[in-house]
Amino acid sequence: MADKISVMYTEEETDRRIAELGAQITKDYAGREITMVCILKGAAAFACELAKRIELPVEMEYMRCSSYGNETESSGVVKIDLDLDRPIRDKNILVVEDIIDTGRTMDYLLKILKARGAADVKLCALLDKPDRRVADVSIDYTGFVIPDEFIVGYGLDYAQKYRNLPYIGILEPEV
Ligand code: IMP
Ligand code: MG
Repeated sequence: MADKISVMYTEEETDRRIAELGAQITKDYAGREITMVCILKGAAAFACELAKRIELPVEMEYMRCSSYGNETESSGVVKIDLDLDRPIRDKNILVVEDIIDTGRTMDYLLKILKARGAADVKLCALLDKPDRRVADVSIDYTGFVIPDEFIVGYGLDYAQKYRNLPYIGILEPEV
């Protein structure tokens, strides 16, 4: 049976919000260069769209990590599957993530990046799902704060599917 997906934010709403984030970041980082660290695979679509809306020099770097856990919740034991290929010492790092759920993945990753001597490490997340937060992660730039629903689209997947939907959708539980 096909999964039922309902629209939470349309493509237009999402792109408009990303443009606002880009404008805010452009203002806040005026006169500086940004090294964006896009967390694969989920944040790829968001990071590209965001980078286009930042009117400053932006370097784009990529990392992929996996968190051991069960199907629905990360454990906090994070493995780096693909690491940065350049040092980040003295750079202004802007980590770009799709969604902060329990916060365990980011809590771990931000500590690692700070320990590598970046000048500054900030976090930008397309979605914040605060109801399930376990680790105390502070998000500097948030697209949308959302209720505890399972989200797909705009980069986010369910079993590797639906990343290419141009909107942010709720995967409705089967009844
Ligand atoms: P955390 O460590 O629990 O914050 O895990 C965050 C990661 O879990 C995100 O980067 C996503 O890959 C995944 N995730 C959490 N919630 C959702 C969701 O609603 N849809 C798709 N992936 C999610
Ligand atoms: Mg992810």
